[in-house]
Amino acid sequence: MKLSARLSALAGASALVVGALAGAAPASAAPTGATAAPDIPLANVKQHLADLQSIATANGGNRAHGRTGYKASIDFVKAKLDAAGYTTTLQTFTSSGATGYNLIADWPGGDPNQVLMAGSHLDSVTSGAGINDNGSGSAAVLETALAVSRAGYQPSKHLRFAWWGAEELGLIGSKYYVNNLASTERAKVKGYLNFDMIGSPNPGYFVYDDDPTIEQTFKTYYAGLGVPTEIETEGDGRSDHAPFKNAGIPVGGLFSGADYVKTSAQAQKWGGTAGQSFDRCYHSSCDTTANINDTALDRNSDAVAYAIWALSGTTTTPPAGTVFENTADVSVPDNGAAVTSSVTVSGVTGNAPSNLAVGVDIIHTWRGDLVVDLIAPDGSVYNLHNRTGSSADNIQQTYTVNASSEVANGVWKLRVQDKASGDTGYINSFKLTFP
Ligand code: TRP
Ligand code: ZN
Ligand code: CA
Repeated sequence: MKLSARLSALAGASALVVGALAGAAPASAAPTGATAAPDIPLANVKQHLADLQSIATANGGNRAHGRTGYKASIDFVKAKLDAAGYTTTLQTFTSSGATGYNLIADWPGGDPNQVLMAGSHLDSVTSGAGINDNGSGSAAVLETALAVSRAGYQPSKHLRFAWWGAEELGLIGSKYYVNNLASTERAKVKGYLNFDMIGSPNPGYFVYDDDPTIEQTFKTYYAGLGVPTEIETEGDGRSDHAPFKNAGIPVGGLFSGADYVKTSAQAQKWGGTAGQSFDRCYHSSCDTTANINDTALDRNSDAVAYAIWALSGTTTTPPAGTVFENTADVSVPDNGAAVTSSVTVSGVTGNAPSNLAVGVDIIHTWRGDLVVDLIAPDGSVYNLHNRTGSSADNIQQTYTVNASSEVANGVWKLRVQDKASGDTGYINSFKLTFP
């Protein structure tokens, strides 16, 4: 599909004329383009928590390894994923004399040699329902997987979601999975995202200090919200990312705090109560649906989806031929200050292409007067024309620019300066075409 939607010129040099790419694509949209991550509905995540609470209540108050509440939890998650079109696998193992279960859910499609995983442990301790630890991560990952299905999302990477058993006994399930993955299969896993406790009642916003790309993805999400984050320090390797990390797989994750105490500095930036632990019900019977901070759960659930989308999508171009154009005239003062025409690129994941077509249409009676630059969103300058061509008229030309080190989204400018007196002109149009 060629997207070359154009609006007629708006008044002024700052007018924006862009291709119709912004925002989340509907489920039926062509899969080649970048799509924005959906907002994960908090109500859906909370419903999963209510269901996990009911399962615990009906099974002696917990969802621990080897207990009926654990198997019921696995069955509950599996049924939702099966109905949503996932290929699910129940992996069994034995620990402390009881059968344990991991649930693996593959989303059909994507590059089988580039697998992005996200996971959470689904077991609780025996003392309670484990709604923050770790219904929260389990529910957010489940709802993100369901959102993938609802969106008909077809990323370039293959997506795999996992719910681990017996984490509370020492990362038993996730260790079992990684140890039993053939080395060829292991090599295909390009990233593992872990979510263990993300709705703590007195929350902090912690990002694992692991793979830089994954870490930055979460930080970028939170920067967009204006919420400060800190590096997770409440025990490195205390959750299911550890076996992946030990196998050399890039990992990352989010955490809202367990039994460490919130400092006054942390309470100042995040709210909540200083001098109290992030989760006073950690590993105890009061870890129920009442033990959740909705704001933290909402933000972190959206962050799960944001990261899944950002790390699995196409890394370069929107549909071939997508045009971002500004046709507003901008007069170029004779022997004067530089002027610019802008276009805003949006809805593209990752960097600009190595063969970005920059269409320049400048009407001028002496092109040898002109210096013309492309300015990337971060301010990087690419010179297109530097006073060559002497007395010839006009610059009507398409330049191919290697813009692959630039993030595609943002405001791009064509900057034109007339450096000699006598002849004058104007920018007629400026456009960027994605190959
Ligand atoms: N389930 C983990 C545990 O009981 C919770 C936890 C504590 C955690 N510290 C962490 C999870 C740091 C991630 C990162 O040990
Ligand atoms: Zn946990
Ligand atoms: Ca001039």
